[in-house]
Amino acid sequence: MTDRGGLEEAVVADITTSYIDGSTGELIYCGYAIEDLAETTSFEEILFLLYNARLPNQAEYEALRATVAQDAAIPAAVIQMMKSLPSGTPAMAVLRTAVSMLSAFEPDAENLTDKDVAQAKAFRLTGQITTICAAWMRIAKGQAPICPRPDLSVAENFLYMTTGEEPDPTACAALNVYLVLLAEHGMNASTFASRVVTATGSDLHSAIVAGISALKGPSHGGANSEAMKMFVEIGEVENVAPWFEKNVKSGKRRIMGIGHRVYKSNDPRAGILRRHAEALAESSGKRKWFDIAVNLAETARADDYFIQRNLYPNVDYYSAIVLYTLDLDIDMFTPLFAMSRIAGWSAHVIDQMGGRLIRPKANYVGPRGLKWIPISER
Ligand code: ACO
Repeated sequence: MTDRGGLEEAVVADITTSYIDGSTGELIYCGYAIEDLAETTSFEEILFLLYNARLPNQAEYEALRATVAQDAAIPAAVIQMMKSLPSGTPAMAVLRTAVSMLSAFEPDAENLTDKDVAQAKAFRLTGQITTICAAWMRIAKGQAPICPRPDLSVAENFLYMTTGEEPDPTACAALNVYLVLLAEHGMNASTFASRVVTATGSDLHSAIVAGISALKGPSHGGANSEAMKMFVEIGEVENVAPWFEKNVKSGKRRIMGIGHRVYKSNDPRAGILRRHAEALAESSGKRKWFDIAVNLAETARADDYFIQRNLYPNVDYYSAIVLYTLDLDIDMFTPLFAMSRIAGWSAHVIDQMGGRLIRPKANYVGPRGLKWIPISER
């Protein structure tokens, strides 16, 4: 199969949620530079920004934070379903299944036209995905899940629900930066998948399930856990050079978390996450993993192959270290990506609602005029 360049030159929508200049490494959300938002803004403010194209005032922020937290509980039947899954089920498969099941409990699931209703559903799903992620982390270890608290933000609630203890402010701040950085990113594969589903007139949950399904792949959001597995496989800083020689120079393997369809220079999110990864790695006593990541990135960036192809660390590369130093299971890294990207997916879904069916063409290159013969004679 030829893939016609992965649609890389196709422009499929006019959007106002984000702008990316891949040649200069620029990313903006609704007019604001990502560098200004990352360190100063809560994830809930980004949710508000993406839906309303302006930042909230204090009262609007408090109201949205409370709404998301109050609606974050998930039905007992969904928890039961999660408990019934075979051990070792990939966390992204659990998330995909749980979100699909949640639609059966959503009173407005089949309201396909009202954008305010869609926004309310999206807020609910944002909190519920946070709860699913934390619950699965515990269920997978044979622990009882913990209910969300109405007084916490998304970042705080997630960390609270993983341990039941008051979340550490430094960890909450780092997770919040992560959630802000991954919330929205133009017409990426998972967002496009969500828009295609929405353009058929289907419902929000179906569109988000499509987004989760596309994000799961290692060429997209699945790269964060694959990057961490690679760092663990390398094991020690002194192994970086021989590992690179054996696995990458031989042309056998790609470095996960490096390369991007749009960024042909630094991914601005990677630079911000690198700073947080270093600080967290230092404070958590996991400095080694950060050093391996930096060493491998520098080895790649010094190599002609990576220079000629403009391959730089992407958002998944250092987010692997951030999430690892927060003591999250590697299998949970991509669900954490979804916990953030629900913001962008939903904003795109609401924008797409009522739009035309997305239906490109394919170029038929197969045979014609073959003579049909009955099955008994084939
Ligand atoms: N390691 C080694 N070589 C690479 C890498 C890599 N990580 N990425 C791309 N290349 C090479 C390819 O082999 C190809 O070489 P060639 O021209 O000799 O054939 C060239 O660079 C271009 O690669 P494509 O796959 O054509 O680029 P594309 O834009 O289709 O792919 C992608 C982008 C999928 C992200 C790719 O860079 C990759 O596989 N990276 C690793 C996985 C990853 O990190 N994914 C997360 C992306 S960010 C996100 O989705 C959130």
